[in-house]
Amino acid sequence: MKYAIITGASKGLGAAIAKRLMNEEISVISVSRTENKELRKLALEKGTVYKHFSCNLALEKEVQEVFMEISHFIFQKDPSEILLFNNAGVVDPIHTVGNLDQTPVIRNVQINLIAPILITNIFFNKAQHTETKVQAVNVTSGAAVRSIEGWSVYCSSKAGLNMFTQTAALEQAELKTQNKIIAFSPGIMDTDMQATIRSSSKDAFRDLDQFKGYKENNMLLPAETVADALVDLVLSGDAESGKVYHINDLLNK
Ligand SMILES: NC(=O)c1ccc[n+]([C@@H]2O[C@H](COP(=O)([O-])OP(=O)(O)OC[C@H]3O[C@@H](n4cnc5c(N)ncnc54)[C@H](OP(=O)(O)O)[C@@H]3O)[C@@H](O)[C@H]2O)c1
Repeated sequence: MKYAIITGASKGLGAAIAKRLMNEEISVISVSRTENKELRKLALEKGTVYKHFSCNLALEKEVQEVFMEISHFIFQKDPSEILLFNNAGVVDPIHTVGNLDQTPVIRNVQINLIAPILITNIFFNKAQHTETKVQAVNVTSGAAVRSIEGWSVYCSSKAGLNMFTQTAALEQAELKTQNKIIAFSPGIMDTDMQATIRSSSKDAFRDLDQFKGYKENNMLLPAETVADALVDLVLSGDAESGKVYHINDLLNK
């Protein structure tokens, strides 16, 4: 049986990934601070395994404890494959350097970069002692490779996530494991994260009008379209470890 762990499954892209995987009869472990009750209902309808773990990914002790528990739970089931989606992310703080508050800076790096590193480490470690294959997906952003004024922290944490992905993939290839790790850039999606971006101020974020235009002109992708393309790639078995995929590459195939 395949098990998927999805961080940030309570809404947005994470919830769409969870729903698609349940429709594929894959067992889903959801991790976020709040639970999406629709997922529990869908799991009941489909008769699939579903568990929610509450975790604040900004707190490394909590990450370590909760993911040790999750990995213990999953590995004892002797799964055929584990799909790990490091999807949770925050865009805040949006402001120019010199005007940043310390707490949101640290929180951003903890959630967007440190938590995926710690979580992947736990799963690759456990996989060493079993026959289980782990496929990890780190949800990144175009902002990892393009500087956007006001987003210095987000750009940096996502750039770090790309480099972590590429380095871990090299190591897994050298170690000749079955594990894969990719990064995935979902494009601009119609989720709460975009609402947060639109609610920022013009002096904190120069491109504000452009992002408001994306919504007004219906240019935001539905999270479900993005989730379907990503899950198709992951389930195909064709994902190239170490690659940073962009949604446009998958939709324009
Ligand atoms: N939306 C876009 O246009 C866009 C573009 C490029 C990349 N991305 C990336 O895509 C991914 C998904 O974004 P989205 O648009 O779906 O965002 P979203 O709708 O804002 O959802 C974010 C998810 O992350 C979780 N999360 C946030 N802080 C957390 C914390 N401290 N601990 C645990 N979970 C936390 C939230 O759950 P709780 O609040 O319940 O904890 C929620 O489920 C992110 O990595 C984002 O950077 C998004």
